[in-house]
Amino acid sequence: MCSLSANNRISRRTALTRLGASALGLAFMNSSRFAPKTKDETLRSRLPKFSERSRALLSQVLEDPNFSGRIPASAVEALAKSENASVDDLMLGLLPLAQTYSRAPISNFFVGVVARGASGSLYLGANIEIPGQCLGFAVHAEQSALSNAYMNSEQSVTSLAVVGGAPCGHCRQFMEEISPAGEILILIPNQPPSKLASILPAAFGPAALGVMQGALPVRKANLALSDGASDALNAAALDAACRSYAPYSKSPAGVAIRTNGGRIFQGCYIENVAFNPSLSPLQTAVVQLIAAGQAYSAISAVTLVEMQGSKISQRAVTETVLAALAPQLKLEVILARA
Ligand code: THU
Ligand code: ZN
Repeated sequence: MCSLSANNRISRRTALTRLGASALGLAFMNSSRFAPKTKDETLRSRLPKFSERSRALLSQVLEDPNFSGRIPASAVEALAKSENASVDDLMLGLLPLAQTYSRAPISNFFVGVVARGASGSLYLGANIEIPGQCLGFAVHAEQSALSNAYMNSEQSVTSLAVVGGAPCGHCRQFMEEISPAGEILILIPNQPPSKLASILPAAFGPAALGVMQGALPVRKANLALSDGASDALNAAALDAACRSYAPYSKSPAGVAIRTNGGRIFQGCYIENVAFNPSLSPLQTAVVQLIAAGQAYSAISAVTLVEMQGSKISQRAVTETVLAALAPQLKLEVILARA
């Protein structure tokens, strides 16, 4: 069902370059809008092998005003049936769609991922590079799909499909926090599936720093705002901070983005035992924004909630990234206490 990488020795770069040279062209992916085409046109050009019926099912999912990269379990089941495909094959088949969410103005290297949660829902993810900013701020496609599963309170992630090659070391390390037992199944077109544990042997896992459970399932802390008015945006940022995962710094944090269309996107801070693959709360919120097909220019307000007197602060990185995405905006920072 997936037309990518017919030759199973194809490299990720070759596969992506081939995709990039496809009839559709990927120039639109660098635009801040989802696509200059309608969603139906995008589905036709990205998923030409899908039946009309399957594309109509998908179109309904994408047109849902609350869509943000999650394909609910019921739609996944209907799609697999309509395509007469296994969910694994469906995930591989959806990769060209996931890729359209890539924002890669620095590398022009467009990566797409589809992750499956224990609920049966699928999560689209793509890489996001922050224009003009250091490469370390980039969110990998794998992180993007997994953070989407996290934001949707999945109990666990069972599998992850990625286009063209195995996830990079940074992503393997990020996955380790999501699945410290190494159970996530990695699906790559035309290759046998492999578990995370087999592609990340001798892993440096959460236990190395005395943490016995990974990032999932999400646990909720009880924090309250110490200052600032609790409007809907601030309440959403507080809720994201309560649901964040910060066992190493003990510095929970959350972000909420409001758009000029009135939608609110939350982002939880998600730490990693090896520190660097951690996702800041703004990165996680931006993943949600982009998965909803929204442009950076739609951002109208952003609130960061973090703990009073905590060991580390997300303020500086959040201000820097926000300045790159929406230079006219001032970040609101509100302190919380336990
Ligand atoms: N990238 C991913 O999204 N996943 C990987 O595992 C490899 C690299 C992205 C990061 C960056 O935006 C671009 O590809 C070039 O490395
Ligand atoms: Zn990676």
